[in-house]
Amino acid sequence: MNHPCYICGLGSCIPPRVMTNHDLEKLVETSDEWITTRTGIKERHVLEDGVNASDCGAEAARAALEEAGVLPEEVTHVFVATCTPDYLCPSTACVIASKLGISAADGRKGNVMCLDFNAACTGFVYGLELARNTVQSHPDAVVLLVATEALSRRTNFTDRTTCVLFGDAAGAVVIRSEEKGALWQLRDVVCSSDGSLHDLIKIGGGSACRIKEGDAVGADWFISMQGMAVFKHAVRSMTEESQTILARNGISLDELDLFIPHQANLRIIKAVGERLGIDENKVFANVQHYGNTSAATLPVAMEDARRSGALRPGMKVLLTSFGGGMTWGSALLA
Ligand code: ACO
Repeated sequence: MNHPCYICGLGSCIPPRVMTNHDLEKLVETSDEWITTRTGIKERHVLEDGVNASDCGAEAARAALEEAGVLPEEVTHVFVATCTPDYLCPSTACVIASKLGISAADGRKGNVMCLDFNAACTGFVYGLELARNTVQSHPDAVVLLVATEALSRRTNFTDRTTCVLFGDAAGAVVIRSEEKGALWQLRDVVCSSDGSLHDLIKIGGGSACRIKEGDAVGADWFISMQGMAVFKHAVRSMTEESQTILARNGISLDELDLFIPHQANLRIIKAVGERLGIDENKVFANVQHYGNTSAATLPVAMEDARRSGALRPGMKVLLTSFGGGMTWGSALLA
């Protein structure tokens, strides 16, 4: 039997330090006008030195747990979507579990599964699928799904083609089979990928980056991207994946209350909305304030939409995303 699966807590963390387009004008040959017309982005937030993806993720997680009324010792799984983990090892999930007192709370040690995974900007959607499968096979599971990114740590602030696009943030949800107090049912998730396109977006620092102590890091340490190819793929994949999930659930565009696409570029968001043919008032965008925060964009957008009144519990919501890999996916909440 498939157990239903519910989102019962949501939280986000936005680092207080703001970097505006005008700040970037001082670093590279660019302009507020170029960035605004090509991307819609006006500002992004960046982590202070000494504050890491795990800190921001832990703060978002605390808010999600509090809303869900879940104590740290009740969490059974910590899944962290990130392409900018604190370390290659240990996992950021273990670090967050430690910061929240999940692993050792009330003397409990072990029996908590902590896992990082990397689906780049599609991480939150992939994480919803991981959480859904976990809850369906373990109905008592209480899953903490965190999406956290410290992209500024891998941004090359001398490369104008990428440095204007990204920011840091985190979002988190608590997912379990208990309906009481739930915000949304996780109705369905679709996840896809095409590994033959893995060269389109890269962030170095893994073991393929050969480096020995004392070496200066090379350009491959930072984010690199073939922007226009990614743009075209993003529009096509998010549109088609959204159509797939709506069709297989028998839901029409008119029945949707809100569409929240990955926040990478306002032009991509508009193009997907137009291709789908959805009322533009139902398309949520906040990329103007944060830039692309990769896996974190969807939970951060959900929290912002809720604060603005555009998103309420029980609404029919379509989430869709794409990212490095290439990966893409959609999720349906109701
Ligand atoms: N300021 C001023 N000029 C710039 C800048 C800048 N910041 N960046 C590029 N340019 C110049 C280019 O050099 C080029 O000049 P040229 O014509 O003299 O060669 C010109 O502007 C046009 O460049 P394009 O790359 O063609 O501009 P485009 O309209 O494609 O916009 C952009 C670029 C914004 C990157 C767009 O392609 C895009 O958004 N792509 C998708 C990126 C994305 O969403 N990535 C998300 C995945 S990331 C992840 O998964 C971690």
